[in-house]
Amino acid sequence: LVICGTYYTSKDVNEVEVHKDNLICIDHSGTISRTLSPDDKKYLALLNEAREKDRLIKLQANQYLLPGFIDLHVHAPQWPQAGLALDLPLSDWLNHYTFPLEARFTDKGYARRVYHDFIHELLSQGTTTALMFGTIHNDANLELARQAVNYGLRAFVGQVVMDNPDQTPTYYRNQTSAAALRDTEKFIQEILELRKNTSATVMPVITPRFVPSCTDKALLGLGQLAHQYDLPIQSHLSESNWEHEYAIKRFGMHDTAVMDRFHLLTDKSVMAHGTQLTAADLTTVRQRGTTIAHCPLSNIYFGNGVLPTKKLLRLGNRVGLGSDISGGYSPSLYHNIRQAVKSSQMLTDGVDSSQPVEQRGVTGSRITMANAFYLATVGGAKALHLKTGQIVPGFQADFQIVNGHQRLMELSSADIFQRLMYQTEQQDIQSVYVAGKRVYGKD
Ligand code: GUN
Ligand code: FE
Repeated sequence: LVICGTYYTSKDVNEVEVHKDNLICIDHSGTISRTLSPDDKKYLALLNEAREKDRLIKLQANQYLLPGFIDLHVHAPQWPQAGLALDLPLSDWLNHYTFPLEARFTDKGYARRVYHDFIHELLSQGTTTALMFGTIHNDANLELARQAVNYGLRAFVGQVVMDNPDQTPTYYRNQTSAAALRDTEKFIQEILELRKNTSATVMPVITPRFVPSCTDKALLGLGQLAHQYDLPIQSHLSESNWEHEYAIKRFGMHDTAVMDRFHLLTDKSVMAHGTQLTAADLTTVRQRGTTIAHCPLSNIYFGNGVLPTKKLLRLGNRVGLGSDISGGYSPSLYHNIRQAVKSSQMLTDGVDSSQPVEQRGVTGSRITMANAFYLATVGGAKALHLKTGQIVPGFQADFQIVNGHQRLMELSSADIFQRLMYQTEQQDIQSVYVAGKRVYGKD
């Protein structure tokens, strides 16, 4: 397959490169084998050969190729309640909406319907990889993994563990710590089997819901399983004041130290939110190589604060971007990219100089659109140790083709990038590819 068109890709955290009218060659395994610019000697020959063999996808003048996005934190079973009850505090939202909904996934038929719809939704939003929470139910989680394989989403699926009777309802909890660990190991083996049989791009993920919902026994066992099977780990970390205080009360330390004590912070760990992390917590997280999934939409409702993204990047902490459906209401990473930029502006609070004016914000907190785009692509890929998120040879051919909006003025390539980030909606996404295979298309 050869794609001919203009593409954007991160060069580094601060810079996005544009490549105009390039040829992007994709090999049989779904990897980008080479990219050629129009001044390359072989350009015309390759273009003609691809056209003759009917292997050419030629983008129209207003179309652009972007890497597929990586959603680093999303709850697939919460899709039916996206946009509901966001005015409640986190613990009420969990107990009155989220837990009752997730409990319904004992019903495999319901799971199939929801996950079928949701995987399609993610792809249609330009998301090609997702690190997902499932529920505590083996069968439903397996269904989620199967739907992802069927539709071609690169999927990391977590069997949720929540066994602490103090913080979980009777109708939705693992009955014992031992049962929770057994279910997790069973799920790991089922997914590893699925991978064998389908060359599928699906991975099991160790998933303690968050510190309050887990017993010490479960946390200890999950840390051991993660190391035994060398698996990614996901959870929520320092999301709300309530959760933060809870860890201090129960353990006499922050939840970062708790996670660390149970060996749950590794370079394959992704911790969502982190709005309440202290300098010492950030150091621990950084030293372990753990990634923070920034969920800017969700944090407005449940984060009790703004993640100081710029500070994390400056410190060298790893950061990616998550929709956190349904703490966030939108599965679109475009919406989250915009919110990441907007939230950082508000953290700055309009004061970004050394002027001694009344200063409620933090100087130098702004992130750029290039920074936010990096989080949604490279940041996520690094967290999951994947060669995706960039359009360069040797990387996976995970793309989205986007229709740009026509306007009555000429725009530079840099301006077109800004406009794409600010104005792309679901209906503007023409088609989506994972490993060179078309997994979504409008036509
Ligand atoms: N903390 C524990 N569970 C959840 C969840 O489902 N969503 C969010 N945002 N925070 C959580
Ligand atoms: Fe979450």
